[in-house]
This record gives sequence, C-alpha cells and structure tokens, in this order.
Amino acid sequence: MTQVDKNNDDIAISIKNVTQRFGDEGSPESVLALDNISLDIRKGEFVCLLGPSGCGKSTLLNIVGGLFRPSSGSVTVDGRLVDGKPHPDKIAFVFQESTLFPWYTVIENFHIALKFQGIPKSEWDDRAMTALKAVGMASFAKHYPDQLSVGMRQRVNMARGICVKTGILLMDEPFAALDEQTRMVLGEDLSQLLAETGKTIVFVTHSLAEAVFLSDRIAVISARPGKIKTIIDVKTPHPRSPDFMLEPRFSELRNECYALLRDEIRATMALQRDPQPTGA
Ligand SMILES: Nc1ncnc2c1ncn2[C@@H]1O[C@H](COP(=O)(O)OP(=O)(O)OP(=O)(O)O)[C@@H](O)[C@H]1O
Ligand SMILES: [Mg+2]
Repeated sequence: MTQVDKNNDDIAISIKNVTQRFGDEGSPESVLALDNISLDIRKGEFVCLLGPSGCGKSTLLNIVGGLFRPSSGSVTVDGRLVDGKPHPDKIAFVFQESTLFPWYTVIENFHIALKFQGIPKSEWDDRAMTALKAVGMASFAKHYPDQLSVGMRQRVNMARGICVKTGILLMDEPFAALDEQTRMVLGEDLSQLLAETGKTIVFVTHSLAEAVFLSDRIAVISARPGKIKTIIDVKTPHPRSPDFMLEPRFSELRNECYALLRDEIRATMALQRDPQPTGA
C-alpha cells in the first residue's frame, strides 16, 4: 500500500517498491525478506513498524538508514536517494542493545556522536546535558556504561540518539530489554520529545500498547515475506499522556492491531517449525 502525499516537501522518507532477498534466488538458503514495500513518511511523523518476528522490520529500517542497498526499489530521504550509505547528518539510529563505548564515560560517548556529526565543540556539553536531563540521567554523565543498569544504559542510548541534530531517528526495539514500567515512562518521554523537536521517527516494536501509544501511523507488516498489510491512523496529537491509554479508542486500536497480527504470527510459527511428517 502506498500512502502518497501530494506535497513532496512534506515527506521525510519515501520508500518505493523495496524488495529484499538474502542469498541467490533458487538457492536453498535464499530468503525473500521484503516484498515490494512502499511507504511515504511525513516530516515530524512517528511511524511504527509492527509485525511478527522475522517479517523484515529490522531489514527495512537498516535499508532506510543506508546500512545496505535493497535488492530492488529505492529509498529517498528529504528527496535524496539513500544509496546503501549511512547519512549521519540526517539519520540517527537507536538499537535494541546499547551501543555505548564501554571505555568512555556517558558524556564522552555523547561527545563522540556529536563530533562525528560535525557539531561545534562549544555545543557538545549543552546538547548532551539537555538530552540526558530529558531522560532523567544528567547526574550519571561521568559514569561508565558498565556502572549503569540495562535500563539506564538504554535511556542514555536513547538520549544520545536525540542529542544529535538529525531530523530522522530510526529506533529498532529500543525498549525491548526494559521492564514494562520503564518502557511506559520512556514512551511518555519520547512522545514529549516528539512534540518538542518535531523529529521524524520510525520505530520497531513488538508491543501493541507501545505502538498505539506512540504512533501517528502504524504500518502492520505481514509474515515473511514482509508486505504492508495495512496502515492504522492513530490521530491523537503529541505529547500524549498516560490517560490516552484509558480511552476506549486506545483499546479498540490495540485490539485492531492484534486481530491483524494474529494470523501473521500463526503463519510465522508455521514457517519456523520443522516440517510435519506426512502420512503419520
Ligand atoms: N544478513 C542476512 N542474511 C540472510 N538472511 C537475513 C539477513 N538479515 C535478515 N535475514 C532474514 O530476513 C528475514 C527478516 O529478518 P529481520 O531481522 O529483518 O526480521 P525482524 O522483523 O526484524 O524480526 P525480529 O522481530 O525477530 O527482530 C529473516 O528471515 C532473517 O533470517
Ligand atoms: Mg528485528
């Protein structure tokens, strides 16, 4: 399904007919991961990719981030082709595992990211501390990553993704390793940041509640090969408060996502099982 906005200036990311096959077609190890995905994402929009394990969410995010070229199709960011090359001036990544360098302190890790982006040294501390404050981690600036809990490391990781100047943030299950309460609080922080910074965010999650709470639109992806099954509009402005979760519409949207995913999850489980013996 293609959502095309008439005004191209408004589009941050344009994914056109992206297909990804790993391995040579016909070979036993060949996998068709993505099948003809098209999606336009507007500037300042929060889009969630929701789908069963192995449906190609990370693959799509990595292609958008320029980590590699798709087998066919194209991605443009601000009208420029992403040609299998990262664009650190435009796109920042936050992964599931913290990617902090363990031999540098928290603030030094921020400095490296900001230096890499070409931001003047005079701005480093201000930017880093503002982002750390936003996730309640300012007093840990001089700690080393292994002096922090998994949850704290991931909050720092998220803050580092925010402190750089990129208009686009790609987040691959950033809260997956965290407990439910911490996830909810970070979700609120992220909604607040979205309202303040106007960043465009593409976010991968397995949590239905997280997807509904955070997204402007949810792209529900089918079992492998990943295709966009449907797009759900959430239509509630950011920042969102936890009260949103008490609205009947929240449960309706969550149930709608689950109904769409249930069959896809069963299809995935069938793919991941050993073949059943015949004639038994
Ligand atoms: N580099 C690779 N080489 C070969 N196959 C790959 C490669 N990367 C991903 N795949 C395959 O492509 C499919 C999609 O993988 P991907 O990691 O994108 O799924 P996902 O939706 O992110 O799954 P999860 O929810 O478990 O993270 C899977 O079948 C995976 O095994
Ligand atoms: Mg993944």
